[in-house]
Amino acid sequence: MGPMTYPERFSNLPEYAFPRLRSLLDVHAPGGEVMHMTIGEPKHAFPPWVADIISENIAGFGKYPPNDGAPELLASVADWIQRRYGVAVNPESDVMALNGTREGLFNATLALCPETKNGAQPIVLTPNPFYQVYAVAALTVGAEPHYVAATRETGFLPDYSSLPAEVLNRVAVAYVCSPSNPQGAVASRDYWKELFALAEKYNFRVFADECYSEIYRNDPPPGALEVAREVGFDPDKLMIFHSLSKRSNLPGLRSGFVAGSAGNTAKMKQLRAYAGAPLPLPLQRVAEKVWANEAHVAENRALYAEKFALADELLGDIPGYLPPEAGFFLWMPVEDSETAALKLWTETGVRVLPGAYLAREVDGHNPGAGYLRVALVAPKEETQRGLITLRDCLYR
Ligand SMILES: Cc1ncc(COP(=O)(O)O)c(C=O)c1O
Repeated sequence: MGPMTYPERFSNLPEYAFPRLRSLLDVHAPGGEVMHMTIGEPKHAFPPWVADIISENIAGFGKYPPNDGAPELLASVADWIQRRYGVAVNPESDVMALNGTREGLFNATLALCPETKNGAQPIVLTPNPFYQVYAVAALTVGAEPHYVAATRETGFLPDYSSLPAEVLNRVAVAYVCSPSNPQGAVASRDYWKELFALAEKYNFRVFADECYSEIYRNDPPPGALEVAREVGFDPDKLMIFHSLSKRSNLPGLRSGFVAGSAGNTAKMKQLRAYAGAPLPLPLQRVAEKVWANEAHVAENRALYAEKFALADELLGDIPGYLPPEAGFFLWMPVEDSETAALKLWTETGVRVLPGAYLAREVDGHNPGAGYLRVALVAPKEETQRGLITLRDCLYR
């Protein structure tokens, strides 16, 4: 009997960002009162009536939940899509409830990425830096993740049209995050149109991760689905992903949705019927009501807007400062992200995430290494103290 072996396909996976951060910082004492500006966990209040809905529906814990989402939840989501994007979708066939977008972004590639593309190993495009599940989904299905830098020069979104034809011919899936984590960039209508034209030409699917879509500063970000309908993009080439985690401050509810063509949705539903983890029924009832309510979302957005304004005021004169269009992170330029995060921790106790941990090195260059990701999730006064401390430690 030999030792047990492990799958090779994950052997090069770097450790996740947060254990890496702990290894970097926690061997040193903090330089002052500890302040967390690392994790993207919303801290504003969620609607208080959530508790009542759970208790009114408590008997639902005694049932297996519907895999695809309860019809009432799917209808509520379809209504939201109609209100937000002016697009009609069929709740029964075009929408599936998710246990948060992370699993949906993973399972979409599992359900929809073919084994080969034009006779070769498929490529999954991901922005770089990026939300790490995109790469793991690609590796899981035996596709090759291809990391495309999203830098200042490209408007902090990946320029997939700049890729050579030999890459594009093998692309099966392209992930796009708009508003983007970490940079807070918003894909314009023209960005989506150009991407859809590319996807038509090279025959690949676009997975639009729009989980920050409701945390914007000025105009609501255009939705991928709305632009797709406008230009007549092949419905089988787009899936959109949305979440209550950021919109409604309910990251622990684990609720989101995926929407797109009936064909794609059916494939995802089929997989879920075998291996999915559907949301418990009482929580589906909560999600149904939360999607139907916009008042709390507007309040939430206003709280972030105050903090964005604060950041502009306190940090606006730092060369390279980027006022984010949306989301709740600052993407602060530094010389080296690990060195800067360590200095900030040991001198002040403020914890931020090195941008390098959110990106992969390609051709000797890590496009996150020159940035810190700073989360503006704490209450305003705490955020203010954190930003002043960060400014005085790293930029004065
Ligand atoms: C870009 C991005 N996509 C997806 C997610 C997943 O969110 P959830 O699974 O809570 O919907 C996150 C969470 O931080 C994120 O930042």
